[in-house]
Amino acid sequence: MQAVFGTNWKMRNVDQREAQQYLITLADGLGSFLDDGVHVFVLPPATLLPAMSEVARKTSIQLGAQNFHWEEEGEFTGELSTELLKDAGATVLMVGHAERRVLFNENDEVINRKLLRALEEGFHAVLCIGEADRSTPEARLKEELSAQLVSALRGVNKADLNRLIVAYEPHWAIGRRVDAAAPVTRVRQSAEVIRGALKANFGTENSVRLIYGGNVNLSNCREIVSVNGIDGLFVGGAAADPAGFISVIGRALDGPSD
Ligand code: PGA
Repeated sequence: MQAVFGTNWKMRNVDQREAQQYLITLADGLGSFLDDGVHVFVLPPATLLPAMSEVARKTSIQLGAQNFHWEEEGEFTGELSTELLKDAGATVLMVGHAERRVLFNENDEVINRKLLRALEEGFHAVLCIGEADRSTPEARLKEELSAQLVSALRGVNKADLNRLIVAYEPHWAIGRRVDAAAPVTRVRQSAEVIRGALKANFGTENSVRLIYGGNVNLSNCREIVSVNGIDGLFVGGAAADPAGFISVIGRALDGPSD
């Protein structure tokens, strides 16, 4: 399975020149990995997409959006359609990030609509799922992750699943307020649950790529990416500068396993 590494810039204030330079440095630093087919995507604030796509189109790095509306177009003040984002250079769309679920009240129905739209419009879709609490017991974890997955994928065309990336992102392990990724045992349990639910509900286990996100850094990336069923990583803070992202990818793919 092709390895996948993504980064979400969230609402960081980066100017257009810095954003272009980020991609130039990233593409240079990842040269041989990109040549080997490693799939890398960057989700900047949407206003940066046109400037960044001038650089990205000369590389295999994909650009995407952190948010969009599920309707084709219309009276939805302040929203962006998939068509607008495609025109701006996005080929990846993210759905279900914990910050959108919690801070913007995005529920399962909204997430399902958005995911259907993204896949129908030919995008790669990144679906984030994850339990809210660190103390979630194993049986409950299974229920929560399976329920999020099944409701998000309701009505999805099976042929589109090869453009789906599931990001397992436990809410409690995300962002700077906490300092730890999920322990490897939890990542392993969740990967088994997600792979099992994909098989049971969609007859597909392996065409969907599964990545882990939540405080990924240089010291934990290798261990996490080595978990059975995990194909890559979704990196926030540790990829704020391109050198950080390059180091995490390099270590994850090549570094000694400790
Ligand atoms: P973090 O962000 O790596 O800074 O925890 C991950 C995410 O929100 O996707």
